[in-house]
Order: sequence, then structure tokens, then C-alpha cells
Amino acid sequence: MELGVVNYVAIAVLALMGLYVLSLIYNNFRAAGVTDRGVAEEIRFLKERVDRIKAVREFDKQKNELSWNGARKFRVARKHPENGEICSFYLQPHDERPLPPFEPGQYLTFKLDLPSAKKVTTRCYSLSDSPKGEYYRVSIKRNPPPKDPAKADIGKSSSNFFHDQVNEGDILNVHAPGGDFFLDMHRSTPVVLIGGGIGITPVLSMLNAIVESGSTRETWFFLGIRNGKEHVFREHLEAIDQANENVHVRIVYSGPDESDVEGKDYHHKGRVGADLFKEVLPSNNYDYYFCGPPPMMESLFHGLRDWDVPESRIHFEAFGPATVKSKKSADKDDGKADAAPATGFKLKFVKSEKEIVWDGSADSILEFAEANDIDMDSGCRAGACGTCITAVLAGDVNYNTDPSADVDKGSCLTCISVPKSDMELDA
Ligand SMILES: Cc1cc2nc3c(=O)[nH]c(=O)nc-3n(C[C@H](O)[C@H](O)[C@H](O)COP(=O)(O)OP(=O)(O)OC[C@H]3O[C@@H](n4cnc5c(N)ncnc54)[C@H](O)[C@@H]3O)c2cc1C
Ligand code: FES
Repeated sequence: MELGVVNYVAIAVLALMGLYVLSLIYNNFRAAGVTDRGVAEEIRFLKERVDRIKAVREFDKQKNELSWNGARKFRVARKHPENGEICSFYLQPHDERPLPPFEPGQYLTFKLDLPSAKKVTTRCYSLSDSPKGEYYRVSIKRNPPPKDPAKADIGKSSSNFFHDQVNEGDILNVHAPGGDFFLDMHRSTPVVLIGGGIGITPVLSMLNAIVESGSTRETWFFLGIRNGKEHVFREHLEAIDQANENVHVRIVYSGPDESDVEGKDYHHKGRVGADLFKEVLPSNNYDYYFCGPPPMMESLFHGLRDWDVPESRIHFEAFGPATVKSKKSADKDDGKADAAPATGFKLKFVKSEKEIVWDGSADSILEFAEANDIDMDSGCRAGACGTCITAVLAGDVNYNTDPSADVDKGSCLTCISVPKSDMELDA
């Protein structure tokens, strides 16, 4: 009760201080000859900044209070098949404590006990809905069999495990939301969100978050798929497109089949890329967020750069080993961005008692080790989950892409790094 009174007094004092500051700003602008409209504009701008700072603080506070370390048990509250071999899983915490908020675009890391895996398997899945507070949702595409039948073992495939063996009521071990690929919801600058196939999941979370927050931010949403059979979240996207003047959804089929009708089922035939944006967007002046198959990501990145979109406005995430080498990460290779990776370094795997010469035949230390029968832990293979972290006993690495997982000093993520010198690894 007493605390309530103190709070009211504090709020009243803050409000009076705010008014005083605004009147000072107003008088200063007037003294400087700024018009009433100019003053109003400045005050609106300042108010927006104050609101943004307050919202960021509130988000951080909730996140710090409610987040968790390690694995937490989640119950599958709903399993819902979507189009195109994709299945959505709605997860609620088994301990029934509230969920921390997350940034739209982030992912969950799962620790799975797969039937034929000897160890716990780690996999990341993007959150595919906005942060609603009641549940987390992931949408998982069934993985097809590998090209090499000798490597086929469905009992080791996480996505097939989810589809075939995870059911409503089951309990899963889940790490807290993470990842650097997310939309800043406290800004109102125009955005282009692009999903290719199952790469729709993080950008759908962004789209839903924009719409549900009531933001009037100009938003373009492109979904690139083969045809109607892969047209996922169709009704949901159509409803959003119709109900929100600021949102423009564009569906692009690369190979429509006979039953697909242009103008009804899809807007454009071809591929999502800079050529299409030049046709459809009023300018190139947007922040671009994309996720999709490697060739699409690569051509989007270079197409946007050729269209003079600054690299700082291009944001992307890969669901596997990085294929797009941005200038930012390439620059870290001592300016040798386009040069072939250096070879000839001696790699000593201390626990395995093997020494091999790095010949550049693999894209990462992890791949190189596996090709030489050295057992190393891995999960996402994209620098996200931290499973492949390995102590570096001597030498150093270059990263192909910036790690999202935390890397302790003296260690490296082998899935996204290559040697920079002779090395000794604790593996
Ligand atoms: C940050 C991040 C976010 C991601 N978000 C999503 C997402 O939202 N949705 C999504 O679907 N994916 C997402 N992924 C990809 C996901 O993590 C897995 O990589 C993907 O599901 C494939 O894993 P898997 O275990 O099924 O197959 P793999 O890791 O490719 O294979 C594991 C083993 O199973 C075998 N195998 C696989 N499939 C078969 C099969 N059909 N028959 C026989 N053997 C098989 C393989 O040969 C291999 O031995 C994301 C990845 C990252 C890094
Ligand atoms: S395997 Fe996930 S960070 Fe390397």
C-alpha cells in the first residue's frame, strides 16, 4: 500500500520533470527561431526515443527475470501439420512458469534423444510465431533422405524424429531463445522480409510481430517456393495482406504446376531477387532480412549489393554452414577476402593423437576432422548452438561467418572456422 503511494509520487515527479524538460526544449527552439511545427516534430522525435529506451529496458528486465540456463522441459501442447512437409509444434513450459520474451527471428536449441544416436543430438529451430507469451512455436520441415544411401539413417534425423515420433503431451529439452538475426521492434524504418522455403520461419515471426504490435511500419514480405504444394501458411499470409495497409505480401513460385494460377495462387513466377525488387519496390531504401536455401541467399546478397544496398542494411541467417561470405567477415581474413584460404598448416588433434596437414579441401575444421575420422561434437553446423566448441591449445582460427553462440576465450567453434596458423586442438 505504502509502496503504491511512493510509486504514484515518483510517477508524478517524473511527469513534472518531463514537462519541465519539454518546456525548456520548446523555449530553446523558439529562441532559436524554429517554427511551432518544427518544435512539435522535434518533441515527437524525442518522445519516440524516450519510449524506445523505456521499451528496451522493460524487454531486458523481463528477459533477465524469466530466462533460464541449460535445458528446460517443455510440453508439446499442439502438433499441427502445415503444407509442404512442414509441421508446427506449439510448446509450453512444463514448470508452468512464465516465458521470457524473445526477439522475432531468434531460434530455440533442442537437446534430443534420437533412436539411433549414441549421444544427445543438438538442433536449432527458429521461432515461427511472434512472442505472444503463452507458447513458443517452431515449424519443422521433414528432411529428405541423403543422396548417398550409405549415409541414410532416419533414426539420426531430428526433423524426421519430430514429424514421426514427437506427439502432443511429449516433453522436450529446450534451451532459451538465442541468435543475432532478429528484427529491432523498437524501430519503425521500412523493411523487406524474405523467406525461401522453410527459411520462412524467422521472417514469419518478424511479420507476425509487426502486425500484432499494431506498427504502421512499411513492410514487404516475399515468400519464394516452388509451387502450390509448398505454399505454407497461405491463409494466414493472405489475411495479413488484406487487413494491413502497410503490409504487402508477395508470393513467388519458381516452378508452378498446371493447377497453379498466377494472380490467384501466386503473384510472380521466377525467383526472389534484386531483379524482382527493382520491379516491385518503390526504391532500394529498406532493411532486408532473409533466410533460405544457400543459392538463394548468395544471389540475394550479391544482387542487393550490386543494387547499392549498403551491407549494414542486409541481414541474413543460414540454417546450415554459411555460404554467403559478407565483406564484414571476409575483411577479418587480413584483407584477403577473395584469396583462396591458406593451406599447409599442421593441425594436431591432441586427444585423437592425430596430426594432419590442412589442405583446404573442407570448409571448416569440423568438416576436415570428420573427413579424417576424428570424432567431434556438432549440432547446428552454423555457429549457433555452441556444441562444437573446442579448446585451442596453440594457434588461431579465422571465422567464415560471425558466431552467434558465445565463444570462451581460448576456444573456437570448429563448424565455422578454418586454421589461421599451425594449431593444436583439444579434440
Ligand atoms: C539457426 C537455425 C535455425 C533453424 N531453423 C529451422 C526451422 O525453423 N525449421 C526447420 O525445419 N529447420 C531449421 N533449421 C535446420 C535444422 O536445425 C536441421 O538442420 C534440419 O532439421 C535437418 O536436421 P536433421 O537432423 O533432420 O538432418 P541432418 O542433420 O541433415 O541429418 C542427420 C542424419 O540423419 C540422416 N538423415 C536425415 N534425413 C534422413 C532421411 N530422410 N532418411 C534417412 N536418413 C536421413 C543423415 O544422413 C544424417 O546421418 C535451422 C537451423 C539453424 C542453424
Ligand atoms: S555445431 Fe553449432 S556452433 Fe558449431
